Amino acid sequence: MSTHTTVRALTPPAIRARKGGAPLVCLTAYTTPMARLVDREADVILVGDSLGMVVHGLPSTLGVTLEMMILHGLAARRGTTRACLVVDLPFGSYEAGPDQAFRSAARVMAETGCAAVKLEGGESMAPTIDFLTRRGVPVMAHVGLMPQSVNVTGGYRTQGRGSVAAARVEADARAVSDAGAFSVVLEKITEPLARRITEALPIPTIGIGASAACDGQILVIDDMLGLFTDFQPSFVRRYAELGRAVEAAVAAYAADVRARSFPGREHVFNDD
Ligand code: KIV
Repeated sequence: MSTHTTVRALTPPAIRARKGGAPLVCLTAYTTPMARLVDREADVILVGDSLGMVVHGLPSTLGVTLEMMILHGLAARRGTTRACLVVDLPFGSYEAGPDQAFRSAARVMAETGCAAVKLEGGESMAPTIDFLTRRGVPVMAHVGLMPQSVNVTGGYRTQGRGSVAAARVEADARAVSDAGAFSVVLEKITEPLARRITEALPIPTIGIGASAACDGQILVIDDMLGLFTDFQPSFVRRYAELGRAVEAAVAAYAADVRARSFPGREHVFNDD
């Protein structure tokens, strides 16, 4: 008799079925060790294209490539056992049309082993989402503030303020849900709008800066751990100050090295 217990990863249909149930715990992770730590609690691990900014030091997500997403997706995959692993399609890898999106998504899924992809866009992306989901690619959608469109929208401001803008975001959310997305990220929209969309849609809404009215929440891990401090969105609650802890540890190490009091030195030489 086998003594192994197989832990089954949460699937996109299982995430979809959480609508109206326990809130979805979602976080980003870009490496094997971080995915391993996050996997203990998270329902969804997103390898977000935010990695361009928080890992690679880019000024926006626009310079992120498919190769970068695949490399980090594979790394996160090795650390993920239980969570549903979702990988972002980066800017320029899907907007030209459904064929391009399918080729990019198929590469990401085949080369990383992730369960689903995420892409930004509402009504304009609905035909692409429909095309992908009918061909075996589960899609998490992303509406409201869409960082890949920052040059069109002119910044990272709250979206959906005023009745016309709110109706546009609502129509976007409805369109991606009707097209077959298994969940939708609502980024930086007002609470009443997030509540209306969450009540109206049959799929889970995952909020980031979109209030507690959503079916789940997501944060960029480096933001909530205090590791990325170049730019701190107002909605991010810091759960740790790891940036400061790293600085203190590096300073203590440097002091040891400069004082020639590096512990373990004798062992190293005795083992030679
Ligand atoms: O790229 C990312 O990490 C994201 C989340 C912030 C939702 O899209």
